[in-house]
Amino acid sequence: MNLFRNFKSVTKTCYGRGSFGKLDEILQPHRFQNDGFMVFVVDDYFEDKADFVKRIPELEGDEVHFISVLKEPTTELIDRLRDDILKRRGLPAGIVGIGGGSVMDIAKATALMFTNEGSSVQYQGLNLIKKPGIYHCGVPTISGTGAEVSMTAVLTGPVKKLGLKCDWTVFDQIVLDPDLIASVPRDQWFYTGMDTYIHSVEAITGTKKNTFAEAYSEKSLAMCREVFLKLDRSDVKSDEKLMVASYMGGLSLTYSEVGVCHALSYGLGKVLEIHHCIANCIAFDKLEDVYGDYVQEFKGMVKHLKVNIPQGLAKDWSEETISAMAEVAYNLPHMWDHAFGPDWQKVLDRERIKGWYRRMFGLTWRN
Ligand SMILES: [Fe+2]
Repeated sequence: MNLFRNFKSVTKTCYGRGSFGKLDEILQPHRFQNDGFMVFVVDDYFEDKADFVKRIPELEGDEVHFISVLKEPTTELIDRLRDDILKRRGLPAGIVGIGGGSVMDIAKATALMFTNEGSSVQYQGLNLIKKPGIYHCGVPTISGTGAEVSMTAVLTGPVKKLGLKCDWTVFDQIVLDPDLIASVPRDQWFYTGMDTYIHSVEAITGTKKNTFAEAYSEKSLAMCREVFLKLDRSDVKSDEKLMVASYMGGLSLTYSEVGVCHALSYGLGKVLEIHHCIANCIAFDKLEDVYGDYVQEFKGMVKHLKVNIPQGLAKDWSEETISAMAEVAYNLPHMWDHAFGPDWQKVLDRERIKGWYRRMFGLTWRN
């Protein structure tokens, strides 16, 4: 397999319990760029958590925006946020995202759009961004999506659900504090954690798999097994391992690709607005023909943790809905190329994709 990537990594990483307390010091040297103020975009889950809010190192002139991530980030949201801040205040020194994968993506995308003209819609794709963005820093408060290390900022646009992907997307700084993920509600903790499990599986079960991806994937999978099958969540090691598993699952993708599960998940996300991580769980559960024992292991984790999974989601899906989702998924050739090789069109058509969606008529795992 010859897969050449010349990838950009996160410039600086600060890891460890209490590292959130270092954020002020970390931002200090970057505060004087441009018009000299910082923008914090924060998951609005924290808006009424006064003890948390007062730990955000907001100085005079800075802006804190609490953002709802009930819906995944849209191109419209990014354009609006950028236009509003530029018009009122000018160009920020930097932007800091504090939240889950959606907030990470908002911070990355907005950082780029501050310096690239027009709508973010026109930059959805690979290397379409023209200029480097402003300084951007990510502080995850939930682990699994790998958005803290990925070189993409996934946005839902009017036509496509696709990332702004280029070297400049990657964070200049991440702060990984396992204390911050301790209070994540249990179901969400599981769904999001499964995103990294699935990244690690998909990275090494396709035609682009390679030793580089395998090294990160194997360690991430081993840590997921400890977190979701062995450790009690109250064990101090649990959050520490999950945070690093997310990081490594993300890196396993850097030199590989996602596959069938993520393609189906994108269809569920674009058409039905089902959140990425739960959409992955819904799809992965039905993909035993593709991912074999890994699906069994996944079901074992669900059973072990007695996770609450919504049932029978697909019973009302019309043929139109299934066709629309299949169309979204079919138009992700890089994922199918990884899953089935360059001749993927010989083994995959829209009907086969629809078949996978039809299987989602109620989930097989129940508690
Ligand atoms: Fe994912």
